[in-house]
Amino acid sequence: MSVVPYKEQTASKKEQVATMFDNIAGKYDLLNRVLSFGIDIYWRKKAVRLLKPLRPRLILDIATGTGDFAIEALAAKPEKIIGVDISEGMLAKGREKLRKMKLEDKIELRKGDSEKLLFTDNYFDAVIVSFGVRNFENLDKGLVDMFRVLKKGGTCIIVEFSKPTGFPFKQVYNFYSSRILPLIGKVISKDQSAYSYLPESVQAFPDGKDFLNIFEKAGFHSTKCIPLTFGISSIYIGRK
Ligand SMILES: C[S@@+](CC[C@H](N)C(=O)[O-])C[C@H]1O[C@@H](n2cnc3c(N)ncnc32)[C@H](O)[C@@H]1O
Repeated sequence: MSVVPYKEQTASKKEQVATMFDNIAGKYDLLNRVLSFGIDIYWRKKAVRLLKPLRPRLILDIATGTGDFAIEALAAKPEKIIGVDISEGMLAKGREKLRKMKLEDKIELRKGDSEKLLFTDNYFDAVIVSFGVRNFENLDKGLVDMFRVLKKGGTCIIVEFSKPTGFPFKQVYNFYSSRILPLIGKVISKDQSAYSYLPESVQAFPDGKDFLNIFEKAGFHSTKCIPLTFGISSIYIGRK
């Protein structure tokens, strides 16, 4: 059974995830910085460093949320980035940020579902996702549709939480993510479940080689996993 944010509800995972991100949108950026001690910024930057030499002209940022990965990806100097997300609340925060940064002509945010992308086949030079795939209702379907809209020869870069394995970091991290993080998340976001869902969904999500197998089944080749910060996160790269 897949992990959902609100276990007492009967709504689908997709509906629950959209509601959860609508609920926490106002505090999402702040909580990211606080709970990761700012390391999330470094993780996105590191992923964009891999994108830069590919010189993508048109980039799709899936599960764009408040647009942080899309904004970071501007360092690769694309002509345009389109970000899609199922949470209107997150998109509204993102649009506000882009307006303040005067980036609306470079980055366009649209409501959209990763499992049913409204783009033609072979459209984007690069497809990127940070901390999104773990939240998909149907991971295989999402990856297959990302593959479909990517041009032949194009690259997909995914950043996602993974599970550290080495002693004693694994133990320290597990204690922090299952005990401390949900408490801070609850107090700041005022959502009872969102930051318990985070470590639970990380535990249940395939990482490392397991993720690469699923990634390859969706069609990607030349895949690679780059663990970050003792394996708390990983970058996955694949080509079409
Ligand atoms: C943890 S946030 C990541 C946001 C941003 N990429 C970042 O790095 O901060 C996950 C986002 O995935 C979105 N999401 C989940 N399932 C989705 C789907 N099927 N299609 C598009 N977006 C989805 C959520 O609405 C949420 O905004």
